[in-house]
Amino acid sequence: MRTKVLFVCYGNICRSPIAEFVFRDMVSAEGLSDRIVTASCATSAEHIGDPVDRRSRAELERHGISCDGKRGRRLTRDDYSEYDYIIGMDRRNLEYIRTMAPSPDCCRMGMLMDYAGGGEVADPWYTGDFGRAYSDIERGCAGLLDHIRREVL
Ligand code: 4NP
Repeated sequence: MRTKVLFVCYGNICRSPIAEFVFRDMVSAEGLSDRIVTASCATSAEHIGDPVDRRSRAELERHGISCDGKRGRRLTRDDYSEYDYIIGMDRRNLEYIRTMAPSPDCCRMGMLMDYAGGGEVADPWYTGDFGRAYSDIERGCAGLLDHIRREVL
């Protein structure tokens, strides 16, 4: 059985793609790629089919991580049966995730920073601070991976 993690933000071009590619990189570095799979998507339809924002892409590249080929896609009803964890970046994302859910116990729903002391990943689309978003996401992903190792694997 593989553990499947879906990261969600508003546009799927700034925060959740960073989470997808950073988390996949951590999983790979731990030799767990056959046990844990990950993806990301949007709550909105605004950037469906778009590539990752160039500022998020630059943060990833600074850390040696490529996100080539990633295109924005929207959260679907099928995702709730496909994924074990559906993880939002902020409260609005999580409210949307919960509202769309077929049932409250269909999968684990939460916010990324729940796994690193709490809070939200502030949206760099508005703050302009992609470095801060990246470091928050990195801490959240590390905490989530620790959690999955302890609770699931
Ligand atoms: P994201 O950032 O949710 O982290 O991908 C945003 C991207 C686009 C918009 C808002 C936030 N937008 O309004 O188009």
